[in-house]
Amino acid sequence: MMKKLVMGADHAGYALKDKIKAVLIERGYEVTDVGTFSSESCKYPIIAHELCKNIQDGKSEMGILICGTGVGMSLCANKHKGIRAACVSDTFSARLTRMHNDSNVLCFGERVVGYGLAMELVDAFIETEFEGGRHAERVALINAIENENFELLK
Ligand code: RB5
Repeated sequence: MMKKLVMGADHAGYALKDKIKAVLIERGYEVTDVGTFSSESCKYPIIAHELCKNIQDGKSEMGILICGTGVGMSLCANKHKGIRAACVSDTFSARLTRMHNDSNVLCFGERVVGYGLAMELVDAFIETEFEGGRHAERVALINAIENENFELLK
């Protein structure tokens, strides 16, 4: 079963998003695009928020966020309950963050990685499964931290 994906980018990641999206669709993936849809300047937190809501609502399983560095997107995404976003620029981390952290959002920067490496990051991320076992206990602790802090906001 192919994973349902959601992609988002600001103006600094828009060109790379569209290129990667085309490849994923060609391969048969269902890809929701939350924008942006042009190189006109926009605000990355708004895009990250849209993408995270899509995952929280169960519409997609995994997300890919691209900005200039990937950092701003990952900061915003990680403020959402149930979202584990990893900003990476090497394939080892892209694979391991799936195996150990059960990350569900991949972030990287169009100003950091080229198209070739970006595609390898995406492949490593979406094709790797969570290992569970001792790592599940650790992810449960991430959830416990989230629960405690989100509780404070009520
Ligand atoms: C936009 O200039 C840039 O700040 C943004 O794409 C991103 O890199 C932020 O983290």
